[in-house]
This record gives sequence, C-alpha cells and structure tokens, in this order.
Amino acid sequence: MNLVIYQSRYGHTQQYAEWIAQELTCPLKTFKTVTLADIEAADTIIFGSGVMAGQYKDLGKFIELVKQYPDKHYAFFSVSITDPAKADNVAFLTKQINQRIELGLQEKIKYFFFRGGLDYERMNGLHRLIMRVMIGSLKKKPALSPDDQRLVDTYGKRLDYLDRQAIAPLLDYVHQMNH
Ligand SMILES: Cc1cc2nc3c(=O)[nH]c(=O)nc-3n(C[C@H](O)[C@H](O)[C@H](O)COP(=O)(O)O)c2cc1C
Repeated sequence: MNLVIYQSRYGHTQQYAEWIAQELTCPLKTFKTVTLADIEAADTIIFGSGVMAGQYKDLGKFIELVKQYPDKHYAFFSVSITDPAKADNVAFLTKQINQRIELGLQEKIKYFFFRGGLDYERMNGLHRLIMRVMIGSLKKKPALSPDDQRLVDTYGKRLDYLDRQAIAPLLDYVHQMNH
C-alpha cells in the first residue's frame, strides 16, 4: 500500500500529488487529514512540498514520520520554480532538505525534483511583495537567462511549468519498492 502526503500553498504541489496518487491508486492526504491508520497501512510514503524562500513547509513532520517508522520506504518530492534539469539548482534544493535531516535518515529517503509555477492572482500580499522585490533585483542585472527573462515577463500574471511526465521516475521508484 502506498500513501501520498503533500503540502501546497498555491496548488502546484497538490497537482503533482494528485497525479501521483491517481497513478498509484492510493490515498492522498495532507498532514491535517492523514490518520494513524493511513500511515500504519502504508509500506511506501511519498511526501511532496513546495519550496518557498528556500524552505519546505511540513518537512519537519515528514522527518518525524521517517524517524517513527524507519522500516517503511520513503520518497520526497520538491516543487520549485527553479529548473531541476540544472545540476546546481538540484544541488541547492538538496542542501535545503539535507540540512534539516540527520545523516542516518537521508539514505532512507529518495528525492525527486519537479517544477511548479506562480499564480499572482492567488498570491497573498507578502508573497506578492517578495516576488516584486525579487523581480526588481533581476531587472537590474545586465543580462538575464531565458528562465529569469520568463520570470520577469510573466510578473503579475501566471507562470506554469507543471509537467505530468516528470513524475515518471518517482512512479518507477515506488513500483521498485513494492516488488
Ligand atoms: C513567496 C514565494 C517564495 C518562493 N521561493 C522560492 C525559492 O526560494 N526557490 C524556488 O525555486 N521557488 C520559489 N518559489 C516558487 C514556488 O516554489 C512555486 O511557486 C511552487 O509551485 C510552489 O508550490 P505550491 O503552488 O504547491 O505552493 C517561491 C514562491 C513564492 C510565492
């Protein structure tokens, strides 16, 4: 039995979590809705969280789960705006997770990195302000990467990098764990 738990502020992580739970035909929960029975019934637990200001919300709760049930299999997926096809982005995102997880536990969790999006219409005031400051500093740069240019061009609108195909390696990993 598999179980997907997610934390999503603006829906992109939720979308990946829904796709994964659909593919695995398994329960989909948040840390607010998950029950002890869900956890105890699961052999493999997949947890996904969006990254905001370099941080993953509910990561602490996930780490507690791994500590409490060290004999289960675990996958963690990150949803960010940075491109996971670039090694330095993955190195940064991995560091952000690993600095919260002690060494013995890191080997128990397989990490995956997906790309989310930005929806300014749904963003709260503080998040809009953070994005405004970030875009403002990007605009001061003499040259922008295509990704940064897209970030600037879509400011105030919608930026969508959701990609259902990206979940394939995670599904393969979970299938491997189940055999
Ligand atoms: C205030 C704010 C801060 C963010 N900080 C980062 C960041 O540090 N690194 C990054 O790659 N993406 C960052 N993002 C982009 C989010 O990771 C992206 O929007 C992701 O899709 C969020 O997942 P969610 O829609 O499930 O909440 C940030 C987004 C917002 C609104």
